[in-house]
Amino acid sequence: MTTDGQRHWTDVYQNRATDAVSWYQADPHLSLALIQKAVPETTAAVLDVGAGGSVLVDRLLDAGYSDISVLDIAAPALAQAKARLGGRASKVRWYEADVTAFTPPQQYDLWHDRAAFHFLTEDAAQQRYVAHLRAALKPGGALVIATFAVGGPEKCSGLDIVQYDTMRMQTVLGSAFILREHHEENHETPGGSIQKFAYFLFRYQP
Ligand SMILES: C[S@@+](CC[C@H](N)C(=O)[O-])C[C@H]1O[C@@H](n2cnc3c(N)ncnc32)[C@H](O)[C@@H]1O
Repeated sequence: MTTDGQRHWTDVYQNRATDAVSWYQADPHLSLALIQKAVPETTAAVLDVGAGGSVLVDRLLDAGYSDISVLDIAAPALAQAKARLGGRASKVRWYEADVTAFTPPQQYDLWHDRAAFHFLTEDAAQQRYVAHLRAALKPGGALVIATFAVGGPEKCSGLDIVQYDTMRMQTVLGSAFILREHHEENHETPGGSIQKFAYFLFRYQP
């Protein structure tokens, strides 16, 4: 069944190149740095949730990671990423799915999400996300999650979002997630405006 969310995001990527959207980063350096710090072993199983056409997967392959999964609700975003990677795309597991309804075939050492979770504005959807996150992460695994920060944009792609600080993120995730790092980043969009992001690194200790 096609949902409103899937229709929205499919439409976005059918009409725009992945390097033209406001969230595009040529160099996802902070995500990569936090991932490498949390799971330095390149055999670690890494899942990028709501990846869109992000080049994070390219950078993870460049860094030698060998167990990478990429998930997005929008097929055209995944198609653009696969086309960009060419032959290297076959080294990655690709999932076209809604993260709040995704049952993964494996567990992960690290779950990464930049700018997908913050679109979940209702408690029930946030809790569905956290339930899937908890089921998918190995105990002792790591979560790198980035959202708009307090004081950042109130909407993205025409949709409402939730801004996070450490307290709000901790409350939503629950006490099994132990905060290790928090960073803020001013993201410059391809159009030249600045968006304030918050990045969090948590360790999952159920
Ligand atoms: C603002 S973009 C961020 C893309 C990428 N993470 C980045 O940093 O460039 C949000 C992404 O989340 C995806 N998305 C939104 N809701 C989703 C859901 N429920 N399940 C999976 N992906 C979702 C969208 O298709 C889109 O690619």
